[in-house]
Amino acid sequence: MKFTLKPTDITEIESDAVVFFSFDASLPNLLKDPFPYAKILKRAIEKESFKAEFGKKLIISTPAESSAYKLILIGLGKEEEFNIYKLQEAVGHAIRECRQIKARKITISIMDIWMKKFGAETAAQTVVEAVELSSYQFQKYQSISSSEAVKIEEVILSVSAARLSSVEEGIRIGQIFAQATIFARDLVNDPPQLTTPAYLAKIAEEIAKSSKDEIKVKIFDQEEIAKLGMNAFLGVAQGSNELPKFIKLSYKPRNPKKKIILAGKGITFDTGGLSLKDAKNMETMKLDMAGAAAVLGVFQVLSKLKINYEVVGLIAACENMPSGKALKPGDILRALNGKTIEVLNTDAEGRLTLADVLSYGVEKEKADVIIDLATLTGACVVALGEEIAGLWGNDEKLLNEIEDCAKLTGEKLWRMPLESGYKDLIKSHIADVKNIGGKWGGAITASLFLHEFVGKTPWIHLDIAGPSFTEKNTPHCPTGGTGYGTRLLLRFLTTS
Ligand code: BES
Ligand code: ZN
Ligand code: ZN
Repeated sequence: MKFTLKPTDITEIESDAVVFFSFDASLPNLLKDPFPYAKILKRAIEKESFKAEFGKKLIISTPAESSAYKLILIGLGKEEEFNIYKLQEAVGHAIRECRQIKARKITISIMDIWMKKFGAETAAQTVVEAVELSSYQFQKYQSISSSEAVKIEEVILSVSAARLSSVEEGIRIGQIFAQATIFARDLVNDPPQLTTPAYLAKIAEEIAKSSKDEIKVKIFDQEEIAKLGMNAFLGVAQGSNELPKFIKLSYKPRNPKKKIILAGKGITFDTGGLSLKDAKNMETMKLDMAGAAAVLGVFQVLSKLKINYEVVGLIAACENMPSGKALKPGDILRALNGKTIEVLNTDAEGRLTLADVLSYGVEKEKADVIIDLATLTGACVVALGEEIAGLWGNDEKLLNEIEDCAKLTGEKLWRMPLESGYKDLIKSHIADVKNIGGKWGGAITASLFLHEFVGKTPWIHLDIAGPSFTEKNTPHCPTGGTGYGTRLLLRFLTTS
């Protein structure tokens, strides 16, 4: 998709659709001259009693001599309730309409208020990301050729002349962030027969190769994983015919400020193992590598951005399968950091693989910061629903930084307690810890389990079981992988 910036009068721009936005209170301003199309808008607003409530749309045909074929007005509701997430949704609604009228070339008017509220660069970046991400479709396995579908080819962003260079930078960054997110979505959407541990390793190698040596890769095979002492990870992998791969990607700029580890849960398919899931709950379990997909998405674009940190991506990739060789409830595993784990439910496998990955980050990499993204628990989806990730961590400053980044990328998350009073729930009478807690607070006990393997290293855990995958087709994302967390990580890495 091509983005161009035009500080000109929108009545002069040739396009199939011109998209405008309005808050409920600012609707009257739209109708005042010299606003272009004021007359034609006025008539439609009055005829249809249009009130710019959030998500409401008004589609207007223009006279034959106009440079635009249709006008699309999108309501934004109350200005004081407006945020980045709503901006993305509003753009998503607009794009849906544009697709319906088969528009190839569209104009979007960026409001001054957005630039004032979020900064010119962030406002432009958000619009670009929202256009790209709401246009996303995953059609590679459908017989109707996707070339038959009309796609938006060009987007003209119309802005007031001020701060053009910030807007330009926003457009550039927005395209990169969207590309990374789409990369992650594709990986989640591809079927699990393709996205095996070996496939993820191959993707990591391709990323390194195309970075012209800026990104290094090391794939540890089963033997090397065993040598490292990652027995919890190996335990999960042992039931499958697919061999496990431990993937490490690294990026090191000159004089890095800190070393940041991004760890993504990489279960390429989660059957539950011998603690087998039922058919319904297994249907979407190709999503269980969404954390890994986000990390790979980040690395795919890393060398295009200015990053002052050393970044190491870690993915323990394997399948969780039942078989004669599979891990059994009752088995005891020794993780890389020496702690022993009693496995009581083989479906709580993500924390086993992450126990070794986090230990590796602390002991072998000597990380300054670790951020893990994991589709870890159904309990987190029960607690926060499908759109909101759970956020845990052991460092107040880092938690605040992540929350600030999420507000800017519009990825919803909510801080959850690392309640030490619940630690007894994961105490084992036979090993150091057990891999499940009690009946309640499952997302918290899972986080407490991970905490056992990070020591004092500043650490963030994001349980993305809900938002990494959408069962409904939304304006912002079609059914399937959402790429959740990719932009959040990129924002974090590019801030300061
Ligand atoms: N991959 C699942 C968590 C999950 C559930 C992700 C729903 C996305 C949607 C994880 O490995 C799992 O099965 N967790 C168990 C833990 C339980 C056995 C303690 C769960 O949540 O049921
Ligand atoms: Zn599981
Ligand atoms: Zn899982």
